[in-house]
Amino acid sequence: MSVRAAVIGLGDISALHLDAIAAMPDAELVAVCDIDQARAAAASDRLGVPAFTDHRTLFAEAAPDVVHICTPHAAHAAATIDALEAGIDVITEKPLARDPRQAAAVVDAAARSSAKIAVCFQNRYNTPVRAAKELLDSGELGAITGAAGTVIWHRTPEYYQASPWRSTWSGGGGGLLMNQAIHTLDLLRWLVGEVQSVAGTAATRALPIEVEDTAELTLTHENGIRSIFYATNAHAANDPITVSVVTEHAELFLSGDLRVTYTDGRVETVTEEKSAGGERAYWGVSHERLITDFYARRGDSEPFWITPTDGARLVDIIHEVYRGSYPEQIAQLTEME
Ligand SMILES: NC(=O)c1ccc[n+]([C@@H]2O[C@H](COP(=O)([O-])OP(=O)(O)OC[C@H]3O[C@@H](n4cnc5c(N)ncnc54)[C@H](O)[C@@H]3O)[C@@H](O)[C@H]2O)c1
Repeated sequence: MSVRAAVIGLGDISALHLDAIAAMPDAELVAVCDIDQARAAAASDRLGVPAFTDHRTLFAEAAPDVVHICTPHAAHAAATIDALEAGIDVITEKPLARDPRQAAAVVDAAARSSAKIAVCFQNRYNTPVRAAKELLDSGELGAITGAAGTVIWHRTPEYYQASPWRSTWSGGGGGLLMNQAIHTLDLLRWLVGEVQSVAGTAATRALPIEVEDTAELTLTHENGIRSIFYATNAHAANDPITVSVVTEHAELFLSGDLRVTYTDGRVETVTEEKSAGGERAYWGVSHERLITDFYARRGDSEPFWITPTDGARLVDIIHEVYRGSYPEQIAQLTEME
């Protein structure tokens, strides 16, 4: 029997989720949902499935097995918690939730539910990233001595005008860090180890938005390693994300591909098997891999390996920076709950 899938939030990223569902022979799209009635109706016509404007009605009437949450950040937690309470498996787009309190509520709901949940940190499935993780875990490279990451990207005023939630604290819960750089912070945490503390600043330097467009962070991991991090959405192009991990015997440099430079002079590279072309190449190639893997592991007894606790930890790390740089906005966000 096919796995019954539904997608909530039918904007830009939903296309990748819908494509991944369509590509799986054992999955069937049964319903879609968007609070924008016209958008929901257009998707219903295009995809040949019923459309809803409220996710609870969709859950009751379409009885999906898995729901994909592709809404703005402020709407992630409510839909995720409702799905988990209804026993429906969830793939939620990042971040887990708009703010730490909502994220903690999702972690609690997941602990109470027998349903499975994944947070869409798809870059962990990039071939060069997986190769880096395997090399680091093998012990072959010796201990990690330091790491760094950069996200130097371009977002236009039109990007924010097209979906105004992206530029606001109430809708996005933040900007560059919460929306874009969170992927690279996830990779640093995954590759180097749990983050113990963070010092950093975030600022709105160039773009006409409430939330930050530029940030610099120093992460101290529990193993004592330091990661340095710089990110901006105010560049004139989307440069490749970079992650560098220095170990006793090599330096790993991820920038699309992985280059491993050993201290004895050997250099090895690992390239991505698929190419991400087109205007949105910066989304990477791995949504389909994560989604297919989640569906394949639905019957497992253990939780999916990218957990709500991972998602909540990243929201907490980002908030440590926001509390210093945007104290009034964060106080207002907390009052909004
Ligand atoms: N993993 C990635 O690489 C990646 C890339 C882009 C976006 N995203 C994430 O995907 C999510 C959506 O981003 P987007 O750029 O597609 O946004 P978008 O604004 O293009 O689309 C969001 C859609 O959700 C709808 N919506 C809003 N509130 C809703 C609700 N309560 N119920 C149902 N529908 C609702 C809106 O009407 C809109 O159609 C965000 O969480 C974003 O961070 C992830």
